[in-house]
This record gives sequence, C-alpha cells and structure tokens, in this order.
Amino acid sequence: MGNALIVGNWKMNGLSASLAEIAAMAAARNDLWVAPPFTLIAGAVAAAQGRLRVGGQDCHSRPNGAHTGCVSAAMLADLGAGFVIVGHSERRTDNGETDTDVRAKALAGRAAGLDVIVCVGETEGQRDAGEVEAVVGRQLAGSLPDATDGLIIAYEPVWAIGTGRTPTPEDVTAVHGFIRAQLLARFGDAGQGVRILYGGSVKPDNAALLLGQPDVGGALVGGASLTAASLLAIAAAAA
Ligand code: 13P
Repeated sequence: MGNALIVGNWKMNGLSASLAEIAAMAAARNDLWVAPPFTLIAGAVAAAQGRLRVGGQDCHSRPNGAHTGCVSAAMLADLGAGFVIVGHSERRTDNGETDTDVRAKALAGRAAGLDVIVCVGETEGQRDAGEVEAVVGRQLAGSLPDATDGLIIAYEPVWAIGTGRTPTPEDVTAVHGFIRAQLLARFGDAGQGVRILYGGSVKPDNAALLLGQPDVGGALVGGASLTAASLLAIAAAAA
C-alpha cells in the first residue's frame, strides 16, 4: 500500500494566524494533506509552497449556479486545492446529507479533477445493535462514484470522533477488511488500489497502533491536526 497518508481536517477551526501551522507542516514534510476551512484555502495553498496538498471539507454537487453560500469543486480546484472530503458524518448529521447527495458531490469532485475522500462510519447505537456492516455497506453502495480513480475511503466511526475513544485494533481490522471486500466486489481488482483511511480520535500516542493494522492506509485527523507539532508527531509515528 505504500506509506501512510495523513490527512488533517480542520473542520470549522482556524483564522489567518493559523496559516503559520500550515507553513510549519510544509517546512517539515512534503507528504501531508490538510483541509482547512474554505476561507483559508487560498492562503494555505500559498503557505504550503507546493509541499503539502490542500483540500476542501465539502463541495456542492453542481459546478455553479444559484446556491447561496455554497462552494463548488471547480472553485476549490481553481484555488489550487487537490482534494475534497465528502460525506463527513458532521455534514451527514448537521446538513442532512444522504448517500445520494454524497455520491453527487463525489462525482462533482472527480469532474473538477480533485481526489475525493468519501467518509463512512456507524453511530454508537448502530454498533451496539450489531449493524456496523449493514450501515457501512449501505453508505458505500450509495455514496461512491463509479470508478476508483482518485478515490479514497475514510472509515470514521461517529462515536470515536472528538471523543478520545477509538475502536480496538481488531475492530478497525474487521471494518477495514469489510470495506476492502466491498470495494473488490464492486470494482474488481481496482478495488485493491483504493486507500482506506481510519479517522476518529487519532493522536500521536495511538497512531502507530491504529495505522499498523491491515488495510489501514492512513488517517483522517481532526483535533490533532490543528497544530504542526501534533500532526507531525502523528506522521512520524505512522512511518
Ligand atoms: P477527531 O480526530 O477530532 O476525532 O476528528 C476526526 C474526524 O472527524 C476527521 O474527519
């Protein structure tokens, strides 16, 4: 699978002063990806000096039009973004995004030439009810584009996001293995080449364990991606 891919998702955090963190990340490594808020994308692209990949946290499914307050994938690409996250659980919950919406956004991202990170993951209630594979399988079936080019999956159990709780390595292995099987069933051999990230309370002190599991190709990091020190420590632990 190659080296782990470490992606930071800043969510609704960061003002212009935070661009110093981007610059520090880029000064130390050239393989990190970071998705700051829309307002910082242009500044982040400049601060990164081509040494890290900047992305969006969401995009609209249409390239332009009467959609007040929305940002299209083409707009992200125009600023120099290289990827977009779609279907994050916070958007599925806060904004009512369905699998159909997420798939449309994924297609829009690919049409604009962006790599697309599609997020899936169960709630705690769904896990307790034994529905992990049913939920994740349904999300994959409904949210993915039709080809694997530029496609990355992020498995983010909702109950592990921002809580300091993580699944056991065995649970991570089980779900990532299930996702791989689904990808192979849908895309054939091409499904083997799709990177599957783990996300949810990844920190410097648990990164090596979580990223060491089979079929874990990297991490999607929220809170611990906001400073260069923390994201760099995760990347170092993952090596
Ligand atoms: P935390 O790392 O803060 O748990 O967030 C994970 C996440 O949602 C990344 O997209």
